[in-house]
Amino acid sequence: MRIRVNEDWWKTLFDEIYLLTDARSVCDEELSSREVDLICRLMAPGKEDRILDMCGGQGRHSLELASRGFAGCTVLDYSQYLVDQGMKTARSRKIEVDFIRSDARDTGLPGSSFDHVMILGNSLGYLPEIDDDLKILKEAYRLLKAGGNLLLDVADGKLVKDSMAPVAWHETDGTVVVCRRRELKGDSVSARELVLCKERGLLRDQAYRVRLFESNDLKGLLTEAGFSTVDVHSDFSPHAGDEDYGFMDKRLLVTAVKGAFD
Ligand SMILES: C[S@@+](CC[C@H](N)C(=O)[O-])C[C@H]1O[C@@H](n2cnc3c(N)ncnc32)[C@H](O)[C@@H]1O
Repeated sequence: MRIRVNEDWWKTLFDEIYLLTDARSVCDEELSSREVDLICRLMAPGKEDRILDMCGGQGRHSLELASRGFAGCTVLDYSQYLVDQGMKTARSRKIEVDFIRSDARDTGLPGSSFDHVMILGNSLGYLPEIDDDLKILKEAYRLLKAGGNLLLDVADGKLVKDSMAPVAWHETDGTVVVCRRRELKGDSVSARELVLCKERGLLRDQAYRVRLFESNDLKGLLTEAGFSTVDVHSDFSPHAGDEDYGFMDKRLLVTAVKGAFD
């Protein structure tokens, strides 16, 4: 049976259940810390630089950056739940990070106000039209100061397509089981996700669709958004095990620069 997807799925999926289903990738502090090592190598931010963590979820990267002394981190995300979680964590750890709830296509923030923008953890390709992905990248470009840089981290579309299993399941903490059925069509994967709790029964039955990007697609989109120096660094796999991590393993890291005179 074909998987039917509501186009607005991304507006509701990123809640407390997402923090269970994707905990292996987004709630593992040791893994996030290794990702931040990589961010620091690729972006080389200064301690006072302004850094925008666009589609930053509960702010796991910015919280780690701030704890390392990077003073100017802002997390922007559409999910009110994740923004609230991030604010709570920052308060409890006594860390300064700004959190904003907004749509990355049109943030309302002043232009040329960040030294770095990062879009991490496969946060592109959720909206039905590729033009919406382009809008997000154009907004990142607008928000960067001249000479500022972007770091993009998305699933490697080619590797995901080549290795995608039609069915996958994993257990989270011994009480919750996540089952995913997937269909590949063109450059998109549709998935139906069932989340079952041994004590509470069915927690979620929801479908979503994610567009996959290959290296050249990203280069094309970033160039169209205005970026001048685009470098793709492939072969980034944060997970060592051979479980099925969906879109959160086998990722492409892309750096791009806003020209100094733009
Ligand atoms: C897979 S999560 C990754 C979050 C974070 N970057 C990380 O690595 O943990 C994708 C995030 O993108 C956010 N997102 C997707 N589309 C968005 C949009 N148009 N505007 C703002 N946030 C968006 C979602 O709310 C979600 O928190």
